[in-house]
Amino acid sequence: MKQGVLGRHMRGPGPVARATFFLEQRMARVPVCVSAYTRLYRGVVDKEIELGRITEHDRVLNVGCGAAPFTGLLVARRSGARVVCVERDGEAAARAEQAVAAQRLEGAVEVLVGDAVAGVPEFDVAIVALQASPKLDVLRTLAECSAPEARLVVRDSAGWCQHMYDRLPAGLTPRATVYHNMGALRSSALFTSNDIRRYCEEGPDNG
Ligand SMILES: C[S@@+](CC[C@H](N)C(=O)[O-])C[C@H]1O[C@@H](n2cnc3c(N)ncnc32)[C@H](O)[C@@H]1O
Repeated sequence: MKQGVLGRHMRGPGPVARATFFLEQRMARVPVCVSAYTRLYRGVVDKEIELGRITEHDRVLNVGCGAAPFTGLLVARRSGARVVCVERDGEAAARAEQAVAAQRLEGAVEVLVGDAVAGVPEFDVAIVALQASPKLDVLRTLAECSAPEARLVVRDSAGWCQHMYDRLPAGLTPRATVYHNMGALRSSALFTSNDIRRYCEEGPDNG
């Protein structure tokens, strides 16, 4: 597995994010569980493929694939795009790579270890995990590492657990949103890299 920009660390995730992280670590040991978990998210990722207008010609980046990289697996299978997953936890990334191999998708899905804040490979479309943090720093790096028209699909949390996740600033308005209402995952929002650059230059958080 290739080492990304930085090594292993986690930045204070909330209890639901921590539970998800450890659940995925356990589940990733059993390929049949990864397959079942992946199937569960097919509807979510299909909506995101449509939202991000992902085709087989796109280079897709998935920020925060965890140990059970269902997003990367589903995007590769259902759109034909090549996917690079970036995961900052080394152990989770190693398990994700095993899951990719178990599904025979090594040619389509690559796993890198690193913190997305520190840098990512160039991409056409990014899908950003609910647990990715710090959210605005991740988005700023993505915007710096891509063309202005690159599409960013960013997951957002349900009302009951909003305080447990690092969220998008309220002033950052998406171009479109799709809704999932699946546990902690409420929706996915679409931005362009240019939207993020503009927000970072002019936005209230920069104040
Ligand atoms: C538990 S996973 C869920 C993702 C899910 N398996 C998928 O395929 O969409 C979320 C992961 O995001 C990772 N993560 C959070 N912030 C990150 C960042 N700045 N850079 C890279 N990985 C990050 C966490 O380490 C965690 O493993």
